[in-house]
Amino acid sequence: MRTDAQVTVGKALDVLRLIDDRNGSTHLLRIHDDAIDAADLRKVRATPDSQGLASFDPGFVNTAACRSAITFIDGDRGVLEYRGYPIEQIAGRCSFLEVAFLLINGELPGPELHEWEASIASVATLPEVVYEVIQRMPHTAHPMNVLAAVVALLGGVYPEARDRAQAETRKLNGNRLIAQVPLIAALVYRNHQGLPFVESDPSLGYTGNFINMMFAGHGLTHDHPDIHSAIETLLVLHADHEQNCSTNVLRGIASADADPYISVSGAMGGLSGPLHGGANEAVLKMLHEIGSVDRVPDFIAHVKAGDQRLMGFGHRVYKNFDPRGVIVKESTDKVFAVTGINPLLEVAIQLERSALADEYFISRKLYPNVDFYSGLVYEAIGLPADMFTVMFAVARTAGWIAHWLEFEVDPDKKIARPRQLFTGSPRRDLPATHAPA
Ligand code: CMC
Repeated sequence: MRTDAQVTVGKALDVLRLIDDRNGSTHLLRIHDDAIDAADLRKVRATPDSQGLASFDPGFVNTAACRSAITFIDGDRGVLEYRGYPIEQIAGRCSFLEVAFLLINGELPGPELHEWEASIASVATLPEVVYEVIQRMPHTAHPMNVLAAVVALLGGVYPEARDRAQAETRKLNGNRLIAQVPLIAALVYRNHQGLPFVESDPSLGYTGNFINMMFAGHGLTHDHPDIHSAIETLLVLHADHEQNCSTNVLRGIASADADPYISVSGAMGGLSGPLHGGANEAVLKMLHEIGSVDRVPDFIAHVKAGDQRLMGFGHRVYKNFDPRGVIVKESTDKVFAVTGINPLLEVAIQLERSALADEYFISRKLYPNVDFYSGLVYEAIGLPADMFTVMFAVARTAGWIAHWLEFEVDPDKKIARPRQLFTGSPRRDLPATHAPA
């Protein structure tokens, strides 16, 4: 829930009185924004020489790593807002570049939209080395690995990006990433498919150029307005999701003052995993393995036995429907009207129906997430499954850049350096076999 405390950021509102039963000591910990400062826990020591209390939170289940004004989620109510605007209002009504501007600047672009589109178009070309490197990559390499490698390489092409102190430099390199990641994605795809590259034509607009570079001459239904609008909507839905795994990776790398290209490349690594952005690919693999509606009960039984997960279900934050998933599901009708129904849709619908009625999923509050249906849409458009996460990465680049720009001027910016609870050997001496020479 958004609380009044979130509005009065930084103002101490209350204290937590903590009694340490190990020695009877009492500690007052400042509460602000419904949080305590974890560093204050260090004051709580069982003995004077102990390192003080730490919070143990692998996976950051209840640890706020930053303040952020970009995206708000209320997982219990299934709410997602970009800069205050509900995702249900944004999807289908705002273009991806409008959303990117909103995420970065806090407001929708008015007359600035034209200038923003032009500034992205002006850097929507790739250096020659990118073409050379992609062509040398084996066709068998997973597109996410190639994408992340090439994005890291751009940091070497634009070394001035390391000068993060200048707002103009940060802006230029943020714009370059938003403009160039889709171009790289398209080259990666075409190389993967053994297709000739298509040159960037920024006059087609951000999404038009991306779609053209991906699919031109490829005999697909991509040029249909409903397909264009489905891709635009998927980009908008995936544009940001506050402190998810990949954004946290980005912040971790950027916290060491690394350049934005290698920070985004690292974030892509996090995104590629099947528990995060790689879930869309994993869902399709799962649906193909199940194959038909009559095999759904057997599959669900295996999930409940703990043999495998129902991919595209569950979320760390949403304990209700993922609002993005609801929108993707609604958009499938329009896409399938153009492409023909994906036969796996029936399997997906039956899986969803069975899971939502099953105590295992109900008690754990497991609902379909954004990636349960997105893979079906991408497959219908003609994309191979290993490209799905690349589509996610193109979209999320806008969110990553918004977070990177916010983080670079955050007065709380600090190198990420968690503590550990040491479980290894106590100090000991090397055995006599390793006596000094
Ligand atoms: N299928 C079966 N059981 C599940 C699933 C699932 N998809 N997700 C969670 N559970 C169970 C889990 O086994 C555990 O049960 P128990 O309490 O008996 O041990 C309980 O639910 C809590 O799960 P958890 O692993 O502690 O939850 P988490 O918050 O750490 O994990 C998640 C979140 C997204 C990694 C997980 O739900 C999952 O693996 N889902 C499938 C992968 C997926 O679809 N990921 C995409 C997320 S949306 C795209 C994005 O933005 O990243």
